[in-house]
Amino acid sequence: MSQKQNILLDKLPKHIAIIMDGNGRWAKGKGKFRIFGHQNGVKAVRETAEACAELGVQYLTLYAFSTENWSRPKEEINALMELLVSTIRKETPTLMKNGIRLQSIGNREDLPVKCRAELEESIRETEKNTRMTLVLALSYSAKWDIVNSVKEIAKQVNEGLIKPEAIDENIINTHLSTSAYPHPELMIRTSGEQRISNFLLWEIAYSELYFSPKLWPDFTKEDLFEAIINYQNRERRFGKTSEQMAQ
Ligand code: IPE
Ligand code: IPE
Ligand code: MG
Repeated sequence: MSQKQNILLDKLPKHIAIIMDGNGRWAKGKGKFRIFGHQNGVKAVRETAEACAELGVQYLTLYAFSTENWSRPKEEINALMELLVSTIRKETPTLMKNGIRLQSIGNREDLPVKCRAELEESIRETEKNTRMTLVLALSYSAKWDIVNSVKEIAKQVNEGLIKPEAIDENIINTHLSTSAYPHPELMIRTSGEQRISNFLLWEIAYSELYFSPKLWPDFTKEDLFEAIINYQNRERRFGKTSEQMAQ
């Protein structure tokens, strides 16, 4: 039986972020090349995005390629970039049908021209969709984003637009590539690894972390529902005491 009906819709996270990990191990377990795992990870992306849209989650951010992933073997990078192009092309009509707006965070300039063009076209095409926002983190790392934000703020200080004393969390927030999205309440990582790998460091300051042992290609809607139910059973205290939260 589906766990879906056990989800409290009035306590739904607005934003879920996912580190989609374990494609390589999934393929290796089947005696195949790593790229086979990436190809099979697309189904899990589709399932997760659909499940979030059906529930009413407003933002879903997926870590698809990190700044550090550029150090992988050339063949894997090329295959991943091609997979990205074909997936975006194939899935854009479904995004339109489901009212999903595509966005991206990360250094687009690093992406191959074809990949960037496909991404930007889909972003343009889906920009008026309002049901859910799907953010792809591509050539993204949180430290890269924070460094850019600091540079931008320093420039404005230099030009006399901001006083150093006026720099606060809000100003830093506004200069991050995630500025248009609320911070995720729930962050999921698959594959059993329990680390953040340079994803959304600033934004997850108070996120609930959920680690699933499933490898990404095996991650289903039910796994997502389970993660959400687990999140809903936690007490988020934000530094306060349990008694204060009960008031
Ligand atoms: C996640 O799966 C996808 C990307 C990082 C692009 P991996 O490729 O990291 O798979 P494992 O961790 O080696 O199993
Ligand atoms: C994190 O996974 C990046 C993505 C899922 C895109 P990795 O597999 O690259 O992370 P590490 O290197 O094991 O920490
Ligand atoms: Mg990995």
